[in-house]
Amino acid sequence: MSNNDIYLLGIESSCDDTSASVIHNGKILSNIVANQEIHAKYGGVVPELASRAHQQHIVPVVHQALKEAGIEKKDLNAICFTSGPGLMGSLLVGTSFAKSMALSLGIPLIEVNHMQAHILAHFIEEEEQKKPPFPFLCLTISGGHTQIVKVEDYFKMTILGETIDDAVGEAFDKSAKILGLPYPGGPLIDKYAQKGNPKAFRFTKPKVNPMDFSFSGLKTAILYFIQKQQKTNPKFIEENLFDICASIQNTIVSILMDKVKNAVEETGIKHVAIAGGVSANSEIRKRLRAAEQQMNWSCYIPKFEYTTDNAAMIAISGYLKYLKQDFSDVSVSAKARLKVDH
Ligand code: KG4
Ligand code: ZN
Repeated sequence: MSNNDIYLLGIESSCDDTSASVIHNGKILSNIVANQEIHAKYGGVVPELASRAHQQHIVPVVHQALKEAGIEKKDLNAICFTSGPGLMGSLLVGTSFAKSMALSLGIPLIEVNHMQAHILAHFIEEEEQKKPPFPFLCLTISGGHTQIVKVEDYFKMTILGETIDDAVGEAFDKSAKILGLPYPGGPLIDKYAQKGNPKAFRFTKPKVNPMDFSFSGLKTAILYFIQKQQKTNPKFIEENLFDICASIQNTIVSILMDKVKNAVEETGIKHVAIAGGVSANSEIRKRLRAAEQQMNWSCYIPKFEYTTDNAAMIAISGYLKYLKQDFSDVSVSAKARLKVDH
C-alpha cells in the first residue's frame, strides 16, 4: 500500500436502507446494502422502526463492506457518512457510528449531503461508464425528492425546479398502494407496465411552472378513476392491472421528460443526467436514450446499483471532498432538512 492509496469507508442511513461501501481512489471495492423489509407490512417507512433496524444492521454491514473490499479498519484514511437530508432517527445512527469510528481510528470524518451524493454517483470510476462534463443538468428523482439541478462543479449545484407537493417516487408508491400493491410499489409498476398498453387510460398532467412538478393531483385522479371503474366492475384492477400500470408510468415519465425538455431549452445545456431511486425506472431510461438520437442530447444514466440509496455514492462524494481536504469536525450534527445547494 503506497501513500497514494486512499481507502475510504462510506456509510448511508438516511431512510430505510443501511449501507456501507469501501472506495479505493474513486473505484468501488464493496457496496453492501441491507434493506428493511419490515416497512412493507405498513405500506410505507415507519421512522421508529427504521432507526431500530439501522442499529441492528450497521455493525454487520460495515464488517461485510470491509471484508469484501479485502481491507482492515486500520487501512482506512477517512470515514464518510450521510449527514442529511433524511429521517432524524435514521441519520443519527449513521452519524454517531461514523463519528465514533473516526475518533477511535484517529482519522478524518467527512459529512456528505445525500442529495448531492445521488448526483455524484456519476463520478464513480467505472469501465464503459462516461462521466457528465460540467455544466450538466441532473433530474434527481427519488422517494423524497424531485428536482432539476444545474451542476456546475462537484459541489456547485443550483435547483432550477422542484416538486411543489409529492415526490415522484411517492407518486409511484401511492398509485401502487391504490392498486393494492406492496410498498415500495415503484419497481412493481415498472415490472407490470412492461406487459401493458401505456395509452389504455389517460390521466391529465398538472399545470405548474415549466421546471416545477406536482404529483398530488395525479394520485387523486388515479384514485377517483379506479373507484369509478370499480362501481361497474369490481374486478377492474385485477383485469386491467398491466394496462393501468403502463398508463400511470407513461403519464409520470411524460411529465418528467416535458420538464427536462423545458430545462434544456431554458439553459441551453444538453448534457442530461438522472439520479435517485426512480432513475432505476426502465421507461425513463428508454426515453432518455431516445432523446439522445432525437434531440441530440448526451444522457448519463447511473448503473442500476447506484440509483436507489447506497453507500457507494456517499463514498465517492467523500472521496471528492477528501481530495480537497474538506473534513468535518466531530461536533458535526445530522440535519433532517438539507438542500442540494448547501
Ligand atoms: O433514492 P431512493 O432509494 O430513496 C430515497 O432517497 O427516497 O428512492 C426510492 C424510490 C421509491 O419511491 C421507489 O418506489 C422508487 O424509488 N423506485 C422506482 C423504481 N425503483 C425504485 N420507481 C419507479 N420505477 C422503478 N423501477
Ligand atoms: Zn435517496
